[in-house]
Amino acid sequence: MKRKIILSVFAFIVLFTLTGCGSKKETSKTEVKTNNNSVVLYFSATGTTKKIAERISRELNSDIIEIIPKEEYKEEDLDYNSDCRANREQNDSSARPEIKNKIDISKYDTIYLGYPIWWGMNPKIILTLLDSYDFIGKAIIPFCTSGSTDISGSVEALRQYNPKLNIKDGKRFAANSSEAEIIDFIDRNKIDKETSNKETSKMKVTIDGKEYTLNLENNDAAKKLVQLAPLEVTMEELNGNEKYIYLSSDFPVDSYKPGNIKQGDVMLFDTSCLVIFYKSFDTPYSYTKIGHIDNLPNLGSSNVSVKFESE
Ligand SMILES: Cc1cc2nc3c(=O)[nH]c(=O)nc-3n(C[C@H](O)[C@H](O)[C@H](O)COP(=O)(O)O)c2cc1C
Repeated sequence: MKRKIILSVFAFIVLFTLTGCGSKKETSKTEVKTNNNSVVLYFSATGTTKKIAERISRELNSDIIEIIPKEEYKEEDLDYNSDCRANREQNDSSARPEIKNKIDISKYDTIYLGYPIWWGMNPKIILTLLDSYDFIGKAIIPFCTSGSTDISGSVEALRQYNPKLNIKDGKRFAANSSEAEIIDFIDRNKIDKETSNKETSKMKVTIDGKEYTLNLENNDAAKKLVQLAPLEVTMEELNGNEKYIYLSSDFPVDSYKPGNIKQGDVMLFDTSCLVIFYKSFDTPYSYTKIGHIDNLPNLGSSNVSVKFESE
C-alpha cells in the first residue's frame, strides 16, 4: 500500500514535471445553463478540472457551478515543491479555505463534484463545501483530474468525513480524456441512478442455501444495502439470537432504540455492523432498521453464509 502511494506520487511528479501545472487561463464564473435536477459543481485551481467539468455539463445538458475560493490560488500558492499554501492546507487537518460564492444546491438530486487531486486527496476547500451545504439525500458523483493519481483515496476520505453522504465511486480524468470516456462516465452513473431510484422494497436473502424475502425499510441504510448487492458474506453467531458481520463500508445511519427486537429483523448496529436477528428479545441498544425477513426460523448456533440480492 505504502509502496503504491510512493509509486503513485513519483509517477505524478514525473508526469506533472513533463506537462507542467499550467496557469489559470480562463476567468472563474458561475454558469447556469438549463434547469434539470443534476448539476456539475467543481473547484479548479489551474483550469484542468474546469475543462472536464464543462464537458461533463455539456454532455449532461446540466447546470454548472464553480466553487470559487475567497482567496484565489496564485502560482506560488500551488508550487508543490515549496512550503506553498496548498501544501500547508493539505497537511493541516483543520484547514477549511473559505468559499467566495453562495452555492444553491437545493434543487438538485445529483451532484457531479469535481476537483483536482492534491497530494492524493481532494483539496480542503471540498470539505468546506460539505460543511457548508446540506448534501443529505443527494447522490454525489465525484470526478477529478490529476497528474496520475486515482480518485479512490479521496473518495474514501470524503466518505469517512461524512458517512451520511451518498458518495459514488467517481472517476479520474486526464486533461486530454476522450469524449467516449466522458460519455461512458455519465452513462454508468445514469444506470446507477436508475437502479437506486427504482422502487426497491424487497431483496432476496439466501441463508445457508435457503431463500427468504427481506422487506426493506424506506431509508438510506436500506438503499445502501441494495447498492452493495449482490453481497455474499459469512455472518458470525452471537448470543444465541443473532448473526452479524462488520462490513467494510459505513452506512448512512438513522439509529433509534427499538426497545425490542423481532425475529427476522435486519438491523445495522453502529455504522457498519449488519445483523440478522433470529430470536425476539428486549434490547437497550440503538439500531438503524434495514428491514425484516418473513418467516425466518431459528438459525442455530453456527456461523451462516448469507447472500443478499436485488429482486
Ligand atoms: C499542491 C498540488 C498537489 C498535487 N498533488 C498531486 C498528486 O498527489 N497526484 C497527482 O497525480 N497530481 C497532483 N497534482 C496535480 C494536479 O492534480 C493536476 O495538475 C490537476 O489536473 C490540476 O487541476 P486544476 O487545473 O483543475 O487545478 C497536484 C497539484 C498541486 C498544485
